[in-house]
Amino acid sequence: MYVIKLGAIGSTNAYLKELTLTSIPQDYTVVVSEHQTNGRGQMGTKWETEAGKNLTVSVFKKILKLNIQEQFYISMCVSLAITETLGKFQIKQLRIKWPNDILSANKKICGILIENIIKNNKMVGSIIGIGLNVNQKFFNDLSQASSLSLLTGIIYSKEEILSEILKQIQFYFDLLESGKKSFIKNKYENQLFRINKPSTFKLNNDETLSGIIKGIDNVGKLIIWTEDEILRTFDLKEIKLLY
Ligand code: BTN
Repeated sequence: MYVIKLGAIGSTNAYLKELTLTSIPQDYTVVVSEHQTNGRGQMGTKWETEAGKNLTVSVFKKILKLNIQEQFYISMCVSLAITETLGKFQIKQLRIKWPNDILSANKKICGILIENIIKNNKMVGSIIGIGLNVNQKFFNDLSQASSLSLLTGIIYSKEEILSEILKQIQFYFDLLESGKKSFIKNKYENQLFRINKPSTFKLNNDETLSGIIKGIDNVGKLIIWTEDEILRTFDLKEIKLLY
Protein backbone atom coordinates (compact mmCIF):
# COMPACT_ATOMS: atom_id res chain seq x y z
CA MET A 1 0.00 0.00 0.00
CA TYR A 2 1.30 3.41 -0.96
CA VAL A 3 0.42 6.08 1.66
CA ILE A 4 0.77 9.84 1.12
CA LYS A 5 0.52 11.79 4.40
CA LEU A 6 -0.24 15.49 4.18
CA GLY A 7 -0.46 18.24 6.78
CA ALA A 8 -3.17 20.21 5.01
CA ILE A 9 -4.77 20.05 1.60
CA GLY A 10 -7.93 21.36 -0.05
CA SER A 11 -9.47 17.93 -0.42
CA THR A 12 -7.88 14.47 -0.39
CA ASN A 13 -10.40 13.35 -3.05
CA ALA A 14 -9.45 16.29 -5.30
CA TYR A 15 -5.74 15.53 -4.73
CA LEU A 16 -6.18 11.91 -5.85
CA LYS A 17 -8.38 12.95 -8.74
CA GLU A 18 -5.62 15.21 -9.99
CA LEU A 19 -3.14 12.31 -9.79
CA THR A 20 -5.43 10.25 -12.03
CA LEU A 21 -5.30 12.92 -14.75
CA THR A 22 -1.73 12.02 -15.65
CA SER A 23 -1.67 8.27 -14.92
CA ILE A 24 -3.59 5.58 -13.10
CA PRO A 25 -2.23 5.45 -9.52
CA GLN A 26 -1.08 2.25 -7.89
CA ASP A 27 -3.96 0.18 -6.49
CA TYR A 28 -4.75 1.23 -2.89
CA THR A 29 -2.89 4.53 -3.06
CA VAL A 30 -3.93 6.28 0.15
CA VAL A 31 -3.96 10.04 0.76
CA VAL A 32 -4.50 11.12 4.35
CA SER A 33 -4.51 14.66 5.63
CA GLU A 34 -4.56 16.25 9.08
CA HIS A 35 -6.73 19.02 7.75
CA GLN A 36 -8.81 19.83 4.69
CA THR A 37 -9.47 23.43 3.73
CA ASN A 38 -11.99 22.58 1.02
CA GLY A 39 -13.43 19.20 2.04
CA ARG A 40 -16.14 17.94 -0.28
CA GLY A 41 -19.33 16.16 0.67
CA GLN A 42 -22.04 14.39 -1.29
CA MET A 43 -24.20 16.31 -3.76
CA GLY A 44 -21.91 19.32 -3.89
CA THR A 45 -21.95 19.98 -0.13
CA LYS A 46 -18.94 20.92 2.00
CA TRP A 47 -17.30 18.61 4.52
CA GLU A 48 -15.93 20.67 7.38
CA THR A 49 -13.95 19.24 10.26
CA GLU A 50 -11.74 20.50 13.06
CA ALA A 51 -8.03 20.32 12.12
CA GLY A 52 -6.16 17.28 13.44
CA LYS A 53 -9.12 15.64 15.19
CA ASN A 54 -10.64 13.43 12.52
CA LEU A 55 -9.82 11.06 9.72
CA THR A 56 -9.98 12.60 6.28
CA VAL A 57 -8.67 10.06 3.84
CA SER A 58 -9.05 8.99 0.23
CA VAL A 59 -8.16 5.66 -1.27
CA PHE A 60 -7.64 4.92 -4.95
CA LYS A 61 -8.98 1.51 -5.95
CA LYS A 62 -8.52 0.05 -9.41
CA ILE A 63 -11.81 -1.32 -10.66
CA LEU A 64 -11.56 -3.93 -13.38
CA LYS A 65 -14.38 -6.40 -13.10
CA LEU A 66 -17.34 -4.14 -12.41
CA ASN A 67 -19.58 -2.69 -15.08
CA ILE A 68 -21.00 0.82 -14.83
CA GLN A 69 -24.43 -0.40 -13.69
CA GLU A 70 -22.79 -2.14 -10.75
CA GLN A 71 -20.95 0.87 -9.31
CA PHE A 72 -23.08 0.88 -6.17
CA TYR A 73 -21.16 -2.23 -5.05
CA ILE A 74 -18.26 0.12 -4.32
CA SER A 75 -20.46 2.07 -1.90
CA MET A 76 -21.63 -1.13 -0.29
CA CYS A 77 -18.08 -2.48 0.17
CA VAL A 78 -16.84 0.75 1.71
CA SER A 79 -19.86 1.17 4.01
CA LEU A 80 -19.44 -2.39 5.24
CA ALA A 81 -15.70 -1.91 5.73
CA ILE A 82 -16.41 1.10 7.96
CA THR A 83 -19.13 -0.55 10.06
CA GLU A 84 -16.94 -3.65 10.46
CA THR A 85 -14.02 -1.48 11.61
CA LEU A 86 -16.11 0.52 14.05
CA GLY A 87 -17.61 -2.67 15.48
CA LYS A 88 -14.07 -3.82 16.27
CA PHE A 89 -13.59 -0.57 18.22
CA GLN A 90 -16.75 -1.36 20.23
CA ILE A 91 -18.91 1.32 18.63
CA LYS A 92 -22.54 0.31 19.13
CA GLN A 93 -25.81 0.66 17.21
CA LEU A 94 -24.12 0.97 13.84
CA ARG A 95 -26.31 1.54 10.81
CA ILE A 96 -25.79 2.55 7.19
CA LYS A 97 -28.08 5.38 6.15
CA TRP A 98 -28.62 4.94 2.41
CA PRO A 99 -26.63 5.44 0.35
CA ASN A 100 -23.53 5.52 2.55
CA ASP A 101 -23.70 7.58 5.73
CA ILE A 102 -22.54 5.71 8.78
CA LEU A 103 -24.60 6.26 11.92
CA SER A 104 -24.15 5.24 15.51
CA ALA A 105 -27.06 5.73 17.92
CA ASN A 106 -28.88 7.59 15.08
CA LYS A 107 -26.11 10.18 14.69
CA LYS A 108 -23.87 10.54 11.64
CA ILE A 109 -20.24 9.75 12.47
CA CYS A 110 -18.87 9.10 9.00
CA GLY A 111 -19.51 10.33 5.47
CA ILE A 112 -18.31 8.69 2.28
CA LEU A 113 -17.77 10.37 -1.08
CA ILE A 114 -17.13 8.00 -3.96
CA GLU A 115 -15.97 9.44 -7.26
CA ASN A 116 -15.63 6.88 -10.00
CA ILE A 117 -13.28 7.18 -12.93
CA ILE A 118 -14.92 6.01 -16.11
CA LYS A 119 -13.07 5.90 -19.44
CA ASN A 120 -14.63 4.82 -22.75
CA ASN A 121 -17.74 3.76 -20.86
CA LYS A 122 -15.72 1.43 -18.64
CA MET A 123 -14.99 1.61 -14.92
CA VAL A 124 -11.29 2.18 -14.43
CA GLY A 125 -11.00 3.13 -10.82
CA SER A 126 -12.66 4.68 -7.85
CA ILE A 127 -11.65 7.47 -5.49
CA ILE A 128 -13.05 6.55 -2.12
CA GLY A 129 -13.20 9.51 0.26
CA ILE A 130 -13.87 8.85 3.91
CA GLY A 131 -14.53 11.48 6.56
CA LEU A 132 -14.72 9.81 9.97
CA ASN A 133 -15.36 11.95 13.03
CA VAL A 134 -12.94 10.58 15.58
CA ASN A 135 -11.87 12.93 18.39
CA GLN A 136 -13.86 16.08 17.60
CA LYS A 137 -16.15 17.12 20.48
CA PHE A 138 -18.05 20.14 19.18
CA PHE A 139 -20.14 20.36 16.02
CA ASN A 140 -21.53 23.81 15.21
CA ASP A 141 -25.03 23.66 13.71
CA LEU A 142 -24.79 19.95 13.04
CA SER A 143 -27.26 18.48 15.50
CA GLN A 144 -27.20 15.10 13.74
CA ALA A 145 -23.41 14.75 13.85
CA SER A 146 -21.33 12.92 16.40
CA SER A 147 -17.88 11.41 16.79
CA LEU A 148 -16.37 8.26 18.25
CA SER A 149 -15.05 10.26 21.20
CA LEU A 150 -18.41 11.86 21.91
CA LEU A 151 -20.05 8.44 21.87
CA THR A 152 -17.59 6.64 24.14
CA GLY A 153 -15.47 9.26 25.95
CA ILE A 154 -12.31 7.61 24.60
CA ILE A 155 -9.59 9.49 22.69
CA TYR A 156 -8.67 7.28 19.74
CA SER A 157 -5.52 6.77 17.71
CA LYS A 158 -6.46 7.80 14.18
CA GLU A 159 -3.63 5.66 12.80
CA GLU A 160 -5.00 2.48 14.41
CA ILE A 161 -8.47 3.15 13.04
CA LEU A 162 -7.13 3.95 9.58
CA SER A 163 -5.09 0.79 9.43
CA GLU A 164 -8.18 -1.31 10.30
CA ILE A 165 -10.30 0.57 7.73
CA LEU A 166 -7.72 -0.17 5.01
CA LYS A 167 -7.64 -3.83 6.01
CA GLN A 168 -11.42 -4.08 5.85
CA ILE A 169 -11.63 -2.21 2.53
CA GLN A 170 -9.23 -4.75 1.04
CA PHE A 171 -11.26 -7.59 2.52
CA TYR A 172 -14.54 -6.38 0.99
CA PHE A 173 -12.99 -5.59 -2.40
CA ASP A 174 -11.43 -9.06 -2.44
CA LEU A 175 -14.92 -10.47 -1.78
CA LEU A 176 -16.33 -8.36 -4.61
CA GLU A 177 -13.59 -9.44 -6.99
CA SER A 178 -14.28 -13.07 -6.14
CA GLY A 179 -17.92 -12.54 -7.18
CA LYS A 180 -19.66 -12.56 -3.77
CA LYS A 181 -22.11 -9.87 -4.83
CA SER A 182 -25.27 -11.22 -3.23
CA PHE A 183 -23.44 -11.75 0.07
CA ILE A 184 -22.32 -8.10 0.00
CA LYS A 185 -25.78 -6.80 -0.94
CA ASN A 186 -27.51 -8.86 1.78
CA LYS A 187 -25.06 -7.73 4.42
CA TYR A 188 -25.48 -4.10 3.36
CA GLU A 189 -29.30 -4.33 3.42
CA ASN A 190 -29.25 -5.92 6.86
CA GLN A 191 -27.45 -2.87 8.21
CA LEU A 192 -29.63 -0.26 6.50
CA PHE A 193 -30.98 2.43 8.81
CA ARG A 194 -34.79 2.14 9.17
CA ILE A 195 -35.11 -0.95 7.01
CA ASN A 196 -38.66 -2.35 7.37
CA LYS A 197 -39.73 0.58 9.55
CA PRO A 198 -42.33 3.21 8.60
CA SER A 199 -40.37 6.34 7.66
CA THR A 200 -40.83 9.77 6.16
CA PHE A 201 -38.94 10.97 3.12
CA LYS A 202 -38.59 14.26 1.32
CA LEU A 203 -38.82 14.19 -2.46
CA ASN A 204 -36.93 16.61 -4.69
CA ASN A 205 -40.17 18.48 -5.45
CA ASP A 206 -40.38 19.18 -1.67
CA GLU A 207 -43.29 16.79 -1.16
CA THR A 208 -43.08 14.32 1.68
CA LEU A 209 -43.63 10.62 1.28
CA SER A 210 -44.40 7.98 3.88
CA GLY A 211 -43.26 4.45 3.31
CA ILE A 212 -41.10 1.56 4.37
CA ILE A 213 -37.58 0.87 3.11
CA LYS A 214 -37.49 -2.66 1.71
CA GLY A 215 -33.91 -2.67 0.41
CA ILE A 216 -32.05 -1.60 -2.72
CA ASP A 217 -32.34 -2.74 -6.30
CA ASN A 218 -29.48 -4.00 -8.46
CA VAL A 219 -28.21 -0.52 -9.27
CA GLY A 220 -28.40 0.69 -5.68
CA LYS A 221 -31.67 2.62 -5.88
CA LEU A 222 -33.72 2.67 -2.69
CA ILE A 223 -36.85 0.49 -2.78
CA ILE A 224 -39.76 1.91 -0.80
CA TRP A 225 -43.14 0.33 -0.13
CA THR A 226 -45.32 3.43 -0.18
CA GLU A 227 -48.57 4.10 1.67
CA ASP A 228 -50.47 3.56 -1.61
CA GLU A 229 -49.14 0.02 -1.39
CA ILE A 230 -46.81 0.16 -4.38
CA LEU A 231 -43.09 -0.46 -4.58
CA ARG A 232 -41.19 2.55 -5.88
CA THR A 233 -37.47 3.04 -6.45
CA PHE A 234 -35.56 6.27 -6.03
CA ASP A 235 -32.05 7.41 -6.72
CA LEU A 236 -29.93 9.71 -4.59
CA LYS A 237 -31.03 12.89 -6.34
CA GLU A 238 -34.71 12.08 -5.94
CA ILE A 239 -35.19 11.42 -2.27
CA LYS A 240 -33.93 12.14 1.22
CA LEU A 241 -34.79 10.15 4.31
CA LEU A 242 -35.78 12.47 7.14
CA TYR A 243 -34.35 11.44 10.50
C1 BTN B 1 -20.77 13.25 2.88
O1 BTN B 1 -21.28 14.25 2.39
O2 BTN B 1 -21.31 12.63 3.79
C2 BTN B 1 -19.45 12.73 2.34
C3 BTN B 1 -18.28 13.34 3.04
C4 BTN B 1 -16.95 12.82 2.57
C5 BTN B 1 -15.79 13.54 3.21
C6 BTN B 1 -14.46 12.95 2.86
S1 BTN B 1 -13.14 13.58 3.84
C7 BTN B 1 -11.96 12.84 2.80
C8 BTN B 1 -12.47 12.98 1.39
N1 BTN B 1 -12.04 14.23 0.80
C9 BTN B 1 -13.08 15.06 0.57
O3 BTN B 1 -12.98 16.22 0.11
N2 BTN B 1 -14.22 14.49 0.94
C10 BTN B 1 -14.01 13.13 1.42
